[in-house]
Amino acid sequence: MRPLIGTSWKMNLTSTEADRWFRDFVPLVRQLDDRDLFVLPPFTSIWVARERLRETPIAWGAQDVDAEDAGAHTGDTSAPMLADLGCRYAEVGHSERRRDHGETPELISAKAAAALRWGMRPIICIGEHRRGALADTLPFLIDDLGRCLSSVAPADLGRVVIAYEPEWAIGVGAVAAHPEEVGAVQRALGSWLAERPGGASIPILYGGSVDVADAARLLYEPGVGGLFVGRFALDPVNFARIASAGAVRQGATT
Ligand code: PGA
Repeated sequence: MRPLIGTSWKMNLTSTEADRWFRDFVPLVRQLDDRDLFVLPPFTSIWVARERLRETPIAWGAQDVDAEDAGAHTGDTSAPMLADLGCRYAEVGHSERRRDHGETPELISAKAAAALRWGMRPIICIGEHRRGALADTLPFLIDDLGRCLSSVAPADLGRVVIAYEPEWAIGVGAVAAHPEEVGAVQRALGSWLAERPGGASIPILYGGSVDVADAARLLYEPGVGGLFVGRFALDPVNFARIASAGAVRQGATT
């Protein structure tokens, strides 16, 4: 499977700053042809992504999507609106949205289904709150993932992307997870998914304080299908280095 490497900028970068970011980033990854890349800017910069990425193989998407296609939902953004802007991915269920907006696994699943209805791949985020032994975290993760997939039709399962993002490893001051422990969790999740039709082809990305120093080791870890990068991607040169990790041809970033 080709690695899938992306970033969510979270609530960072204005549209003016986004324009600068794309202008700096795109030339740095032009030579990469053994992996797929995506960028999830805030809603206010999706149009900039479309301007700057439309002639490139780099995909863009959104950090959230509403479960409904239209209607009286002030401030929300629907899947057809995002699809119309060329989004290929819609992130759902990030722990910050669960924390700040009380999102439940069932709502997250309905959002994933909305993305799928409109031809986008949902990136479903899951992750345990505290670091623990695999035997403790796995049942929690599998229960959450099962609920997050409850509205996804079996025929659509193969279009889903999973991001494993342990909450304890996310953000400033977090402890970075060891690639080996990430691999163990992700291989177990992969085995669980593989028992479902279409589930074997689902990429499982890792996210949580991913930076240049550990990107290649994470990517080489069996079970890790790609990377999902937060704050260390806000610098386009740094994200280009992460995106190029372990590549045979690294173009301008070597
Ligand atoms: P971080 O965020 O890389 O800034 O830790 C990761 C994430 O939330 O996806």
